[in-house]
Amino acid sequence: MKHVLVIPGDGIGPEVIVPSVAVIREITDAIDFEFVESGKKAFEKYGEAISNEVLDKARKADAIFFGATTTVRDPKYRSSILTLRYELDLYANVRPAKALLPGMRKVDITVIRENTEGLYTGREERDLDGVTTFRRVSVKGCERIVKFAFSWCKQNSRKKIACVHKSNVLRQSDGLFLDIFNTEAMKNKKIASSEMLVDSTAMKMVMIPEEFDTLVTLNLYGDILSDLAAGLIGGLGFLPSANIGKERALFEPAHGSAPDIAGRGIANPFAALLSGKMMLEYLGFKKEAQSLSGAVEKTAAGSPSLIDAEGRCNTQAAIDSIKESLRSSAPAGKSGRAKP
Ligand code: IPM
Ligand code: MG
Repeated sequence: MKHVLVIPGDGIGPEVIVPSVAVIREITDAIDFEFVESGKKAFEKYGEAISNEVLDKARKADAIFFGATTTVRDPKYRSSILTLRYELDLYANVRPAKALLPGMRKVDITVIRENTEGLYTGREERDLDGVTTFRRVSVKGCERIVKFAFSWCKQNSRKKIACVHKSNVLRQSDGLFLDIFNTEAMKNKKIASSEMLVDSTAMKMVMIPEEFDTLVTLNLYGDILSDLAAGLIGGLGFLPSANIGKERALFEPAHGSAPDIAGRGIANPFAALLSGKMMLEYLGFKKEAQSLSGAVEKTAAGSPSLIDAEGRCNTQAAIDSIKESLRSSAPAGKSGRAKP
């Protein structure tokens, strides 16, 4: 039995996570899910967005399934997702952007983002004239993300990887990242490697997205480019993500809590479901992961009317269609169920 800690969060977080858990339960009985509170609602109730108790449970779980939380502009507010990334040292953020809707350009880009340093140190110092923000690029940070990216390419049969940086301006820090990438590339000659400046990468991703495969990059560049990649495949509602560390991992849709559309039943559950699929893979349920991605792909390809131009859809109808597709493709029932 695997133990998954579920943090639905705020806004549309619960609207996509709760039905995704229900879908996973249709596929397997071998996971037990524990739900806990964290985010804006928790902050208002208990005075903290993420408690030490939740953090302890997260440390002990086999995986964490996270929805989305709403940020509160209060100096006492500690972001749940950033805290989990740092505290659990989830250094690799993997965001596969694959076009699923009919009639779209053939986009299949994975952004692998360093997830614990860069401009996300949280250190900012105010002085009379303004604010200085600290940006950290460490040897350890670069080495582990670059090694992770090459091994991810091998495991997922990806042929090309590009290192995205800005070493023409940030000569030391991004230069260090690029040097470490080049050293690793020499050891992995079967994967075609290249390097690109982040600004020109953004332009080319818009103009020739079909030519991109895997990108490895620093924290803020990866944050921005993964949203760009989502824009190429119908919006953030289609972009899953895995935050992976040495011994732990957290899976979350890349979108936020979208308070503007919460409560209307129109949140797109695809990103959450695909994050669930990545979690199944991570936990060793390969066959189950395949069934889930098959059902998601079939629903996206077969019912384009479920999703409008802004990526919104009828959440319940999408979930029903995925469950239906799972039932019709696996009449033998779910895994983990005791034999009669
Ligand atoms: C993301 C989000 C987060 C980030 C925010 C919510 C802190 O934009 O996961 O991409 O900047 O990493
Ligand atoms: Mg982001």
